Amino acid sequence: MRPEEAGPPEIEEALAEVPPPPPGFLEPLVIGELRLKSRLVMAPMAGYTNLSFRRLVSARGAGMVATEMVSSQALVRCHPKTFALMRIEAGERPVSVQLFGADPAMMGEAAAIVEERGADVIDLNCGCPVKKITKTEAGSALLCDPDRAGEIVSAMVRSVRKPVTVKMRTGWDTIGTRQAEHFAKAVEEAGAAAITVHGRTRQAMFGGAVDFEAIARVKRAVSIPVLGNGSILAPGDAMRMIERTGVDGLMIGRGAIGNPWIFSRLIHWFRTGELPPPPSPAERRAVALAHLRGLRDELGERMGVLHARKHLAAYTRGMRGGAAFRERVNQLESLEEVVRAVEAFFGEPEAAAAERRPDAA
Ligand SMILES: Cc1cc2nc3c(=O)[nH]c(=O)nc-3n(C[C@H](O)[C@H](O)[C@H](O)COP(=O)(O)O)c2cc1C
Repeated sequence: MRPEEAGPPEIEEALAEVPPPPPGFLEPLVIGELRLKSRLVMAPMAGYTNLSFRRLVSARGAGMVATEMVSSQALVRCHPKTFALMRIEAGERPVSVQLFGADPAMMGEAAAIVEERGADVIDLNCGCPVKKITKTEAGSALLCDPDRAGEIVSAMVRSVRKPVTVKMRTGWDTIGTRQAEHFAKAVEEAGAAAITVHGRTRQAMFGGAVDFEAIARVKRAVSIPVLGNGSILAPGDAMRMIERTGVDGLMIGRGAIGNPWIFSRLIHWFRTGELPPPPSPAERRAVALAHLRGLRDELGERMGVLHARKHLAAYTRGMRGGAAFRERVNQLESLEEVVRAVEAFFGEPEAAAAERRPDAA
């Protein structure tokens, strides 16, 4: 998927016909011995879910955040860039670190490294559709080989004390087969503590309808917690996922890009039946700037500014003047220039504007 296709959606919609969520959904979700802050968790997204983004969504109610997928092979071979992908901060916990790979022994070794580095949960990627990954038998290719996936999970579970979880799709290329629940049972038997199901096959990639029935079959087939994932952008999507599948929690990916408020707004809606208003321009500005500076601190100025472009595009999508702003930002190279462009686009923060009013003391 190209980054510009990756978000952010609006979560406004008529709520009148959306029924209230089941009361149990407000209870904390427990995975192994870990109690999550809420039942809405952030999806791993390569190129997006680095520390600065995780911090923002964690502060806005995500029950757990996730690193992007990390190569088990690179970890075991001590590749320094890979270690940078899993820098964890206390304030963002709980954090799930996702591993990909196909070799059980190597995955066990990588899981131990990740646990030592502070992961609260270690997740096995069984969903990545990208050829570079599937041709090594990893990612969604594991869906075709439940025995191997089970061996990988067993090896990971044997190597760590923290919960090992699995993120899967509904199948490789067919809808309606029993592939998903067989796979889920195999990884549960091997010791997985929870499963997230992205309700699409590998063939469907990121488009098309979410297959609620396949997610429901997985939920019925296992007794560990199951989280539902796929195109949750608004309260109605969340409710459809809960009602039609019976899942224990929800995972949100693209809906959070440029929109970390999706977590706090949905949680408020779960509690009260009311969706808080969208963030004000001052709040958007503050979060966009915090994100920008976080990216600079994490990745350095050059990479930070490059990464910021796609996030800033998402923060400003649908806003008047957004297209011109994005065009301008894509030509800027220094952080200070980008900061000034963001400030100019969103206007002055309310506090600073108030200070400049003639009647201010
Ligand atoms: C840009 C991008 C990167 C992704 N990277 C990962 C990844 O590293 N690991 C993973 O399991 N899924 C990854 N995914 C899939 C998401 O975690 C999620 O399953 C998918 O986007 C569907 O959820 P959504 O509709 O809420 O976005 C990625 C998705 C996108 C759009």
